[in-house]
Amino acid sequence: RNKQIPKAAMQEFHNVPNTDWNLPQNIAWAQKIKEDWKNPENIIGKTIPVVGILENNERYTIKVNNWSGTPPWDYEMAVKEDYQKAIDTPSEWQNYSVEKRANLLKKAALEIEKNRADLIGVAVAELGKTIKEVDVEVSEAIDFANFYAESSLDIAKEFTSEDEGVNLVLSPWNFPIAIPIGGALASLAAGKKVILKPSTNASACAYLISKCLWEAGIPKDALYFLPCEEAILDDFLSTGNIFDAVILTGGTETAHFLLERNPQLNLYAETGGKNNTIVTSLADKEQAAINIVQSAFGNAGQKCSATSLLILTEDVFNDKEFKALLKDATTSKIFGNPWDFSTEIGPLAVPISEKLKHVIQNTPDDQWLVKPRLNGNHMLSPGVIWNVTTDDYPYQNELFGPILSVLKANNLKDAVEIANKVAYGLTAGIESLDNHEIEYWNDNIEAGNKYVNRSTTGAIVQRQPFGGIKASCFGPGMKAGGVNYVLQFTNIKSKTTDW
Ligand code: ALA
Repeated sequence: RNKQIPKAAMQEFHNVPNTDWNLPQNIAWAQKIKEDWKNPENIIGKTIPVVGILENNERYTIKVNNWSGTPPWDYEMAVKEDYQKAIDTPSEWQNYSVEKRANLLKKAALEIEKNRADLIGVAVAELGKTIKEVDVEVSEAIDFANFYAESSLDIAKEFTSEDEGVNLVLSPWNFPIAIPIGGALASLAAGKKVILKPSTNASACAYLISKCLWEAGIPKDALYFLPCEEAILDDFLSTGNIFDAVILTGGTETAHFLLERNPQLNLYAETGGKNNTIVTSLADKEQAAINIVQSAFGNAGQKCSATSLLILTEDVFNDKEFKALLKDATTSKIFGNPWDFSTEIGPLAVPISEKLKHVIQNTPDDQWLVKPRLNGNHMLSPGVIWNVTTDDYPYQNELFGPILSVLKANNLKDAVEIANKVAYGLTAGIESLDNHEIEYWNDNIEAGNKYVNRSTTGAIVQRQPFGGIKASCFGPGMKAGGVNYVLQFTNIKSKTTDW
């Protein structure tokens, strides 16, 4: 797992634009998505199926409750035989030229764009993401397809590869479109066959985005769609290396568990975050409050990249104006039903966790700058806890919800120390208009993605390759949407003949 990965060159790359919500026709378009998705089964069917070149194995379906209460679909579950067949069946994909594969990936990008409306619809329906948040995610999926296609062409200019093997993608529910397909596209670009096992409660999203790839001409025996219950995977993950790469985006505990059980596993994992933003007295405080609230509460805080620790130098901590700005920025966020176009913070995608409940129950009333309201199991409005210390539970624990903890530091150096004592190292932000401060922070803060005077979420393919250090990363640590992401999965071959 400590491969040396040479750097591949990258041509100029253009990201696709997100939908322009200043145009009234686009707001009307969003309204139409909402109408169309009132009956999801008309668009996607009643059952989310297992897909691949498979036998008629005996499978079963399960139901999953979601934020809207009504399980909209049945989810078919793959069985061990499906996995065995997918692993054993050779795919034509591995005989295609690099150019042919790259063309199919680019066609997939067009197909994803064509299906933007339904991809937005399915993610709102299934996971309660807001319309605008999913729109950005669809753009990221398109960028992944184009970028990884270009990566494969660049790699082929420098290296010869032997295209064999199968990757397994284990994807989460918080980015139910971009993350599963990002792992699948990178694997396909590297000449691998791929099995996608999405988080069960996000299978409808993963199915619709996979469909875009099949419709573009990527064969079903190159991209298998095998949602399953976790125990099905035990035989395939607990010994040896059946998969060339297991690409996990999920909890740090999951990565530890997999590696403890099988230290040989080829694990490439992007895991948790407990990210911070530091604000100094030299910040633009109004802009800082806006950026922080965006970083903390976007997708209801359910982002590994979210800022969940706000570390203020002492003078900012004592500045009543900044405190009021932060409170206003939080309470003015529109919280509610994700189908309402104006909603900025929607529900929790999964029922409220024990960790979140623990913090809500154990934080004294007078410590909340903004007290969250919980309605049912999913509707949790954003909350801000004032004066959290490094001994408190929210300091080290990833809460994965819309709760921001504010800490006091003596000065910038102390703030960086507080930040670096956290086990994770995914994203970090600073709000300061002073170059010396920014430079000091940049030299000392421990994080994979650093952001200055902007939000800490929403990394853009190629411009902000995404991935962490410390407990946020397992494996070689090449960043998604970065130049070497595909290369790390490619079997580079070298042949030398002496005459
Ligand atoms: N790549 C996602 C972000 O940057 C997680 O927010």
